[in-house]
Amino acid sequence: MDFLVKSGLPEKQRTACVVVGVFEPRRLSEVGERLDEATGGQISSIIKRGDMEGRLGQTLLLHNLPGLMCDRVLLVGCGREREFNDRNYKTVVGTVIRTLNDTGSMEAVAYIPELNVKGRSLAWKVTQFVVSAYDTLYRFDELKTKKETIRRPLRKITLAVPSRRDLTEGEHAVLEGLSIAEGIQFAKDLANLPGNICTPTYLAEQAQQLAEEYDAIDCEILDQAQMEELGMGALLSVAKGSEQPPRFITLEYHGGEGNEKPIVLVGKGITFDAGGISLKPAHQMDEMKYDMCGAAAVLGTLKAAAELELPLNLVVLVPSCENLPDGRANKPGDIVTSLSGQTIEILNTDAEGRLILCDALTYAERYQPEAVIDVATLTGACVVALGREASGLLGNNSPLINDLLAAGRESGDRAWELPLFDEYQDQLKSNFADMANIGGREAGAITAAAFLSRFTKKYRWAHLDIAGTAWRSGDKKGATGRPVPLLTRYLIDRSEELLEP
Ligand code: BES
Ligand code: MN
Ligand code: ZN
Repeated sequence: MDFLVKSGLPEKQRTACVVVGVFEPRRLSEVGERLDEATGGQISSIIKRGDMEGRLGQTLLLHNLPGLMCDRVLLVGCGREREFNDRNYKTVVGTVIRTLNDTGSMEAVAYIPELNVKGRSLAWKVTQFVVSAYDTLYRFDELKTKKETIRRPLRKITLAVPSRRDLTEGEHAVLEGLSIAEGIQFAKDLANLPGNICTPTYLAEQAQQLAEEYDAIDCEILDQAQMEELGMGALLSVAKGSEQPPRFITLEYHGGEGNEKPIVLVGKGITFDAGGISLKPAHQMDEMKYDMCGAAAVLGTLKAAAELELPLNLVVLVPSCENLPDGRANKPGDIVTSLSGQTIEILNTDAEGRLILCDALTYAERYQPEAVIDVATLTGACVVALGREASGLLGNNSPLINDLLAAGRESGDRAWELPLFDEYQDQLKSNFADMANIGGREAGAITAAAFLSRFTKKYRWAHLDIAGTAWRSGDKKGATGRPVPLLTRYLIDRSEELLEP
């Protein structure tokens, strides 16, 4: 879909549809009032008759109004003006896009970013409009033989901004929105693919394609033999239980100076997690195809960064394999040696994410990184603690954590910090190895991060547990593309810091 930015009077728009907001109770927005005047009070008289209260998500489509140059006017309810916040703004955008797509306006001019959202700039509203629009229209029907077709789909939407002085800011915000939205879409598509298609080999191929698409990206794929050579014993122990060969993906994005330290993103790439010998219950086990959402998100973020040509260096690492039960699979009690040299007693083979991540985190040392952020669908405990709204965030450096929290608030892709006190380390004691891979029933999201922290002592590090946020269950089952918005916002903020001396 095309997004344009324009400033201009609503009554002068030659378009299939002009979209304006109505607040509760029955109060036209400023632009709405202007439009109403041009029609000689037609719109307000329709509202007075009670056809549009202005409740959030309500819509009323009007045709052939006098005095206007457009075919239709779409009135969209925005709720109470005092309560018009981020969440309601996104609901309004979703309603607008869905209604236009369903009612035959193939293009429209929307006076929606002009509405006041508490504490939010015009750029924020425009970027968010684009991202929410993509999210609303997203379908994953690649694998359906009969696809739902829309007869007259929405093709072009023009976002009206208050004045000509706002055009540059608006256009830049559209570009940012498009890059983020496409990064999200890339992540969703990868994550929604089933485990029999999206294997470690497939992930590696997608990574290589990214490197072909963008000159600034280089890709390297390590196979099992190369990982053995390096000594990635923890990762390989998980991979052993599967017929699918493991892959270790490295992508480098060179947007900054050659000597500038990179930010490293690490994504958990378990393409299916059956639990291994500590087998999971059958109920909803299909959802464990989503255990590569961390990988999908870091790849989507890299794509967005490359699209935006951010002036920084970025490295993406994806350790990828399946976790299945098998005669060769890890057994509870097995002890493996990680790339760091530390030994691990595997008390539960279902705590496999940390086993593949720890080797990737050690591997990250070779980049002498500015910071390392790992992203993983790591623990069910995180879903219990925070539900599906916030990703769990832990790490060893408060400025880094604060930057990520801020990026989450700004993008609406929120994270929440959990404590990583030293005392939690005690739960990982093993009688037979340097550590156990599980820490008991209590504080499961924290002990998982405590495990990872033993491999991240040489750099600033943060960990995002996205087990609750990366996908939705139930009848709207599907990947969300989170935390691509948070990570991309973080990188944009970092780039702006680099540019300002
Ligand atoms: N991939 C799962 C985590 C998960 C579970 C994500 C449910 C989303 C929903 C991870 O590999 C896992 O199995 N973790 C175990 C750890 C436990 C054995 C310490 C868990 O959370 O049950
Ligand atoms: Mn598991
Ligand atoms: Zn897992």
